[in-house]
Amino acid sequence: MTRSHDKALRERAAAVIPGGMYGHQAVGLLPDDYPQFFSRAEGAHIWDADGKRYLDLMCAYGPNLFGYGQPEIDAAYVRQLGLGDTLTGPTELMVRLAEEMTLLVSHADWAMFCKNGTDATTMALMTARAQTRRKTIVRAKGAYHGAAPWCTPRPAGTTDTDRAHQIFCDYNDVASLEAAVAQAGDDLAAIFAAPFKHDAFIDQAAPDAAYARRCRELADQTGALLIVDDVRAGLRMARDCSWSVVGVEPDLSTWGKCIANGHPISALLGSEKARKGAASIYVTGSFWYQAAPMAAALETLRLVRTTDYLERLIGMGARLSAGLTERAAAAGFGLRCTGPGQMPLYLFDDDPDLRKGFFFVSQMLSRGVYLHPWHNMFLCAAMTEADIDGVLNAAEDSLAALKREAGGLAPVEKLAFLAGGQR
Ligand SMILES: Cc1ncc(COP(=O)(O)O)c(C=O)c1O
Repeated sequence: MTRSHDKALRERAAAVIPGGMYGHQAVGLLPDDYPQFFSRAEGAHIWDADGKRYLDLMCAYGPNLFGYGQPEIDAAYVRQLGLGDTLTGPTELMVRLAEEMTLLVSHADWAMFCKNGTDATTMALMTARAQTRRKTIVRAKGAYHGAAPWCTPRPAGTTDTDRAHQIFCDYNDVASLEAAVAQAGDDLAAIFAAPFKHDAFIDQAAPDAAYARRCRELADQTGALLIVDDVRAGLRMARDCSWSVVGVEPDLSTWGKCIANGHPISALLGSEKARKGAASIYVTGSFWYQAAPMAAALETLRLVRTTDYLERLIGMGARLSAGLTERAAAAGFGLRCTGPGQMPLYLFDDDPDLRKGFFFVSQMLSRGVYLHPWHNMFLCAAMTEADIDGVLNAAEDSLAALKREAGGLAPVEKLAFLAGGQR
């Protein structure tokens, strides 16, 4: 396949962008034949810089919930752009959005808006410390909460002080949670929890209800706050905070990614218990009152309330995971499809350096399906049952190619770099 535009852009980027690219799309994190640059998107599809179209199972790493360029959401955004976007202060949309989000999310009595998920998780941390006047947080090893100095997965450019006052436990392990809370003693400000185990490179796991309940109990016993980081999973697990599925309400929840279907806005939601702390911290940004993303968020929430998008995502996701497992088994491979089907991660058995996974996703890419070899993926409501059939057909051919080549696959040399690049 010729990728002349992509190649030329990479060369230009290498000169003017450190490392050629940074963050979750940094050079080297994906197979070499993956495009680095894209030119457009519509519904469930993206086009790379050379014009090749893919069914996109990354959905921009989550933000695409109802389809790229969803007409009603984008019309609301454009209408508000015409009226005013970044102004000296907010519009009434901010109050309406706070009202809508607190209606939708059971634990929430108030909302604060920001831009990225990291803004929201950092505000949650500050709110908990301000509210409790304590410093220590307990969080799970390997869980991603953003890229600020306190939580970025790689230490370059951070100090030990940035990362102080944090104790790590194992997700879903009550004994390890209890030990971490005991170690925090009377300084525990918050327990941070991912809605399910959605770490990179390893199988995902549903939240154990006993673990979630114990998080709640320990927070209550110690006077700490419970924070659920719903930046990634929010609105793909429930029309409420994702721990509503296990019947546990946090004090704070963090949201981002898809709440405006890709337009830039994120949120911290909280209960009455945390209101004072939230009101006391100084947080802001030049673009945080932007009105057009708030208009897009209101329209996205209307679709969340009035359509069967969630049931469709769950149904398509379950069929995709079952179909892939079956086809892989028929081709003689163990393929583990873990996590909720609408946010799946696919890993091959006996593939410690991901060479099978890398080969498989490259084969899928050449057949017009964009998958990720080690990060969870996302389904969107613009996908159709025919798209799922298309993925399954492409997988059948890709697995046949894997079977032919499996004996001679080269190791993925960048594995050490990959493991350090977890997001
Ligand atoms: C669970 C979780 N929390 C926080 C973040 C940070 O969000 P952002 O990249 O918008 O800063 C992410 C991003 O992937 C995430 O998945």
